Amino acid sequence: MAGGGGASEPAPQIAIAGVTHIYRPPRGREVLALDGISLEVRHREFVALLGPSGCGKSTLLYLIGGFLPIERGTIAVAGKPVTGPGRDRGITFQNFALFPWKTVRANILYGLEKLGLPPAERTTRAQALIDLVGLQGFEDSYPAQLSGGMKQRTAIARMLAHEPDILLMDEPFGALDAQTRSLMQAELLDIWRRTPKTVVFVTHDVQEAVYLAERVVVLSARPGRVKAVVETRFDRADPGLLKSPAFVDKVDEIWHLVRAEAIAAQRASAP
Ligand SMILES: Nc1ncnc2c1ncn2[C@@H]1O[C@H](COP(=O)(O)OP(=O)(O)O)[C@@H](O)[C@H]1O
Ligand SMILES: [Mg+2]
Repeated sequence: MAGGGGASEPAPQIAIAGVTHIYRPPRGREVLALDGISLEVRHREFVALLGPSGCGKSTLLYLIGGFLPIERGTIAVAGKPVTGPGRDRGITFQNFALFPWKTVRANILYGLEKLGLPPAERTTRAQALIDLVGLQGFEDSYPAQLSGGMKQRTAIARMLAHEPDILLMDEPFGALDAQTRSLMQAELLDIWRRTPKTVVFVTHDVQEAVYLAERVVVLSARPGRVKAVVETRFDRADPGLLKSPAFVDKVDEIWHLVRAEAIAAQRASAP
């Protein structure tokens, strides 16, 4: 095949090349968080990021989102270098940052404000998103009145509001009970199938990563490097998938990769 991305091989939706990130806190030592990350995510691909706590998963999402300066290496989205946040990318933060002084509805409406829609359409869309994430009846509640799972669902609705092509999700289902989590996973897969979205999904749950993603990227203990990229395409319509030997083996294979890094991370932080 000819190089340079011919018509048969479209440019990747997200192209990360040689990205290194150093935090420089005003006090204390510099932290090398990411070291030479290169990764390409195809249009409409669903990629999961796994790795031990502190390996730089959130940092990588912030960089793709344009919230942190890219000092070394490059990140391009749809062929254009990332220079800041943009409407093409939606993000849910690990602590599901909602505006505490706004209700559920107002938090979601915020995501719709910059679209220039007539107010009536905004209200309709906000309600559709509220229904989608199952928050009917809580429209007028404030974040402090919500459970962790409900805050998370509000954050997901707000992320979806402006219909970004790219969803950057930082441990979005971590705070949910098993039942809600499974419903939200199905909902996310449904959104991903129905609309042309590219997803980068951070989780610490290996089974969730293998179930949702088409490829799982395992990062090493800090500084985060790409340790392994594993194909994880399964037939999610198969009701017996989670118990099938192929699926269980894949979870086991990736679990071992992650575990080795978690042990390395623990050693590094031991006194
Ligand atoms: N603002 C910051 N200043 C200094 N160090 C930071 C800052 N944010 C994160 N770090 C450090 O960078 C590393 C990567 O953090 P993070 O991306 O949050 O990891 P993960 O999401 O994989 O748990 C961690 O060691 C963390 O302590
Ligand atoms: Mg994180």
